[in-house]
Amino acid sequence: MSEPIPILLDCDPGHDDAIALLLALASPELELLGVTTVAGNQTLEKTTANALRVLELVGRPDVPVAAGADRPLARELVVGAYVHGESGLEGPALPAPASRPVAQHAVDFLAERILTSARPVTLVPVGPLTNVALLLARHREAAANVERIVIMGGAIAEGNVTPAAEFNVYVDPEAAWRVFRSGVPVTMIGLDVTHKALMMPAHVERLRASGAVGRFVAELHDYFVRFHRETYGFEGAPIHDAVAVAQVLRPGLVETVHRHVDVDRESELCRGRTVVDLWRRTGKEPNADVGTDIDAPAFLELLCERIESLEPAK
Ligand code: BDR
Ligand code: CA
Repeated sequence: MSEPIPILLDCDPGHDDAIALLLALASPELELLGVTTVAGNQTLEKTTANALRVLELVGRPDVPVAAGADRPLARELVVGAYVHGESGLEGPALPAPASRPVAQHAVDFLAERILTSARPVTLVPVGPLTNVALLLARHREAAANVERIVIMGGAIAEGNVTPAAEFNVYVDPEAAWRVFRSGVPVTMIGLDVTHKALMMPAHVERLRASGAVGRFVAELHDYFVRFHRETYGFEGAPIHDAVAVAQVLRPGLVETVHRHVDVDRESELCRGRTVVDLWRRTGKEPNADVGTDIDAPAFLELLCERIESLEPAK
């Protein structure tokens, strides 16, 4: 096997963030250099605690966690408690974390990890893009050693927080706008893709029967699926953030087109909408590989296999 791809996961756990983190930990194709947290699905304090709790669950407190921005660049924080609950990770019973985040701010941690990596690093932000925007503004020199940024966020044609916008981009549209125009290669995994790959009851029962880590994921799903059942009538839940991780370790799993993406930061109605120039109406240079379709059975099989391979902490 070729050398693992160094990645940094920037997240706001969050049910699907937690599963994305487990997928990264279980995948030998990836070298997880660290985890950074941001306010989004819940407050920074809660998302950071949740990242630590998940790492401890699988006996990986050695993976450093750095806490980052506690609010968006220019707006009040909006949290996703209506999807992820009061703790941000409602459902399974998890003890409070025993470990602590590193003393460094996530933005400086990201810069240091990127600049000291022998190989270019892939950033995988799966929450609001505040930390990544700050990184690119404050440590511009780090951008040269970033291979690409694979974002879970946005959508071509739908929204989940408003009719027009996906949650991660809605929360911090100014940050997302900066990342898309940064010149660093961006891959956008949006709702049009993640809503095509639902974790269905058969996957969930398979995981529940597989051991303690599988049971944890099944219990996350039991809670997370409620929002999706009530809102969309889905029988299963999209594991949005895990799709971004999967696309890094299995390139081609998600089909993409190279297009220009802009972010609405002005209107109230369409705040945070990712405006994807699918039919090349603007003549603007493409700035992102935009996901359009996914091999859903392959993704879900990969995800289940990898989760099943994880052992709980002794
Ligand atoms: C995104 O928003 C959050 O609720 C999820 O964790 C995911 O990153 C989906 O819109
Ligand atoms: Ca997330």
